[in-house]
Amino acid sequence: MAGRSVVVGVGHYLPERVVPNAEFEKTLETSDEWIRTRSGIERRHFAAEDETTSDLATHAAQAALKDAGLEPEDIDAIVLATSTADLTFPSAATMVQARLGMTNGFAFDVQAVCAGFVFALSNANALILSGQAKRVLVIGAETFSRIMDWTDRSTCVLFGDGAGALVLEWQEGQGTSEDRGILATDLNSDGRYKDLLYVDGGVSTQSTGHLRMQGNQVFRHAVEKLSKTAEVALNQAGLTNDDVDWIVPHQANIRIIQGTAKKMGVPMDRVVVTVQDHGNTSAASIPLALSVGKNRGQIKPGDLIVTEAIGGGLAWGAVALRW
Ligand code: UT7
Repeated sequence: MAGRSVVVGVGHYLPERVVPNAEFEKTLETSDEWIRTRSGIERRHFAAEDETTSDLATHAAQAALKDAGLEPEDIDAIVLATSTADLTFPSAATMVQARLGMTNGFAFDVQAVCAGFVFALSNANALILSGQAKRVLVIGAETFSRIMDWTDRSTCVLFGDGAGALVLEWQEGQGTSEDRGILATDLNSDGRYKDLLYVDGGVSTQSTGHLRMQGNQVFRHAVEKLSKTAEVALNQAGLTNDDVDWIVPHQANIRIIQGTAKKMGVPMDRVVVTVQDHGNTSAASIPLALSVGKNRGQIKPGDLIVTEAIGGGLAWGAVALRW
């Protein structure tokens, strides 16, 4: 017998305002055609002026709890992945905890930029397997629209706002890859690549800053590192790429998603793709895709899923799980 962290609920929230590519043609030297063909993005959601990351996260958390048929007091911990928390402190996670009316348990943020949700899932799994929590709400939530340089066409057309959440619960398994739940995780980072993707400001430098990215350089690392980390996680679970029912990738660029799937030998009809509708929502993209994939009827109980993501750091990783 072995304990597993099993997904018992999933939900998401997207801000009301939808911005199609054509909107950027009014202010920038760009086109719907360029954005579509280079990134696969057609539209994205932007948070309202008075809407913050913890607002989006709270809505997603409530949707996931409802899906799980659980109440906030049934949760022992909240792990929230974000690089765009409302305030310098306290954590967005504790703000969500209060908004849910939860006075028990503990909550904290995880910051690994676009790989944040994979890092949060892995940490939540560790909390569960070590007996520190029985049920964990794992959230990815971002308002990247707040750190865009609206004069930089190479970045501001790519990102969007949103949130997604999962409820993980300790359940007994057989200790085999047939078990439901998280089967293996693989985390990596290499801080030497800081200059490829960063925000040129922060608390200790006394500013908020804007996102800066050498997109084509990040692209070069992405396919290689994502296919490798997915394979490492799968192999650790005693599985191979052929066992995968769904790749649920970080949604940054359709060409990265296609390149990674191709390298893994997995056809695109086994990949959940939402990048056209959400753009790159950083740490929110994977839980958003899991939730949308489930609603579309793509992801079903028992399916073997591998999620993978890469972002600023560079930080990257993958989680193999059975839904
Ligand atoms: O989620 C975190 C990780 N981030 C990523 O995974 C993003 C990875 N990178 C990418 O998705 C792609 O590199 C981009 C979509 C950012 C760019 O695509 P690319 O094929 O790598 O293009 P590029 O950066 O090499 O730029 C090609 C050209 C440049 O013009 P020149 O120098 O060839 O004349 C850019 O100035 O496209 C130009 N360009 C644009 N043109 C029209 C850059 N942005 C735009 C734009 N509209 N919005």
